[in-house]
Amino acid sequence: MPDVEIKVRDDGPYKVTGPVRLIDAAGEEFAVEDDRPIALCRCGRSRTKPFCDASHKTGFESCPRASGLPARDT
Ligand code: FES
Repeated sequence: MPDVEIKVRDDGPYKVTGPVRLIDAAGEEFAVEDDRPIALCRCGRSRTKPFCDASHKTGFESCPRASGLPARDT
């Protein structure tokens, strides 16, 4: 079992579970709690990027599957 799991949530963020360092383009580290999952914005609408602030609930739709098969009819 890997130490880090990244789950692509339907119509929502990437949920990252496990010990990670989250750094910006300048190499500065974001403060994250070691024992709590973090949600990273996948929709581009968050005002607290790179973190999800639930803005995706205003209409973001994306449900990719590792199999390549669609998750739902569009
Ligand atoms: S995925 Fe939640 S605000 Fe972008």
